[in-house]
Amino acid sequence: MKSTTPTPPSTLLRARQVGRTYAGRAVLRGVSFDLKAGERLALVGPSGSGKTTLLNCLGGVDRPDSGSIELNGVALETLNGDQLAEVRRRRLGTIFQFFHLLPTLTAAENVELPLQLNGVNSTERVRRVQQLLDRVQVSHRADAWPAQLSGGEMQRVAIARALAHQPELLLADEPTGNLDSKNGANILRLLRELSNETGTALVLVTHSPEAAAICHRELELRDGEVVGERLLSAS
Ligand SMILES: Nc1ncnc2c1ncn2[C@@H]1O[C@H](COP(=O)(O)OP(=O)(O)OP(=O)(O)O)[C@@H](O)[C@H]1O
Ligand SMILES: [Mg+2]
Repeated sequence: MKSTTPTPPSTLLRARQVGRTYAGRAVLRGVSFDLKAGERLALVGPSGSGKTTLLNCLGGVDRPDSGSIELNGVALETLNGDQLAEVRRRRLGTIFQFFHLLPTLTAAENVELPLQLNGVNSTERVRRVQQLLDRVQVSHRADAWPAQLSGGEMQRVAIARALAHQPELLLADEPTGNLDSKNGANILRLLRELSNETGTALVLVTHSPEAAAICHRELELRDGEVVGERLLSAS
């Protein structure tokens, strides 16, 4: 289904009637919403309500069976695998509950990877990696392996990696779900600050009201459907 109405320029992401079925069971049913450039949206709802599935569809790692997802006016469903991979590499950053750092690369090398994949030259890469690690306050751990880092440090490195190539949209699935409350609060503050500083929009899947509170808006899913939407007072 392809909409004929043009996407307004400030709309970064536009989801319309998104559906996803697994083995005959509908886990997303007619999900529609818009996200403006720089906006932060919390996706909440009970376990199994389809939050991760929706995030995966937004990030182009899963494909909806119906509906449309447009990023900057480009309908993801019209792209082939290589084109989707390019969108992911250039425009999106992702962070996860379990950090997903590459274990055989140091902290600095993990952050450098997206820059390398995007063809940034080595002088500029070194400069950007240093700057990012400074910004997330882990430059003293630049040469450490992921296994030598604390959970909070790993998530800081993961955030630096997700933002290294200056994506327009950051997708985060329970990014504080594996941290204690103090580290979780620090990570949330960092995400809010970095989103404000860089203008990167954020879709944040979370069970926690404290995490949702860094967002401008909250979308509630239940059984794969949007059952509520409310404005939050994030700044
Ligand atoms: N690859 C898959 N194959 C079959 N069913 C799946 C698959 N991925 C997810 N599901 C099912 O789809 C439903 C939605 O799953 P999803 O992971 O999106 O939920 P969620 O809202 O992220 O839950 P949680 O809060 O527990 O992470 C669940 O019932 C899940 O079992
Ligand atoms: Mg999930």
